[in-house]
Amino acid sequence: MAIFGKKKESEILLPEQLPQHVGFIMDGNGRWAKKRGLPRPFGHREGAKTFRKIVRHCKDIGIKNISFYAFSTENWQRPPEEVSAIMDLFRDYISDVRNFLSENTRMVFLGDKSAFDDDLREKLIKLEEDTAKYDEMTLLMAVNYGGRDELARSARILAQKAVNGEIKPEDITEQSISDTLYTAGIPDVDLVIRPSGEMRLSNFLIWQCAYAEYYFTDILWPDFSEGDLDAALVEFGRRNRRFGGV
Ligand code: IPE
Ligand code: IPE
Ligand code: MG
Repeated sequence: MAIFGKKKESEILLPEQLPQHVGFIMDGNGRWAKKRGLPRPFGHREGAKTFRKIVRHCKDIGIKNISFYAFSTENWQRPPEEVSAIMDLFRDYISDVRNFLSENTRMVFLGDKSAFDDDLREKLIKLEEDTAKYDEMTLLMAVNYGGRDELARSARILAQKAVNGEIKPEDITEQSISDTLYTAGIPDVDLVIRPSGEMRLSNFLIWQCAYAEYYFTDILWPDFSEGDLDAALVEFGRRNRRFGGV
């Protein structure tokens, strides 16, 4: 199935200043299924459809960087049947996003890939390599991702450099930490959107969201539409971002 179809304009007037980077916490799949008396994996499958739709819309309206929280380091605690249903869906996503190759879209995976089966890991790496040259939009997908895990990894990388004599402790700056995160080179998140009524980050891009704006809605992710994203962008346009200034 192609992710990218016909171009569609936004139905409402969007603010002139769009966020450079939008993060989506794709939450509420399980509750969506439960409401319909279906097993939770049905909700994940429906959530994957929303993902495709929202990626398409972001491309149409010109958002440069989009991050999606798909599976956290904490999500391994779920029942094994649910974890394996989610992993199967990833395999589908991956073959799907091959379509990005013709869409000038770069694909980056955020998270520790070592936990995945060899074939899946190789596919993720291949997709990153094959799309590295594209620059119209960057799609970042957080799989086996945890913000604290990412920061601990950054500390290990920098400590190893210090041990090797490549840097001194005083060389460690906010910039050098940013440069060792999975998101190296990507602007910080401007807007985080979390559906499903939960008002928390759940360990998503904690460093990168230090000055993000937050938008919460009760809509469950499988029901989240292009119009809901537009509404979030309009709200973002009304926010007064001061970054500690006046
Ligand atoms: C988000 O939906 C998807 C993942 C965390 C993988 P949930 O599965 O968390 O859905 P709810 O929160 O139980 O409704
Ligand atoms: C956050 O959702 C992780 C993803 C959306 C992948 P969770 O459903 O795991 O978060 P909590 O448990 O409600 O904080
Ligand atoms: Mg949830």
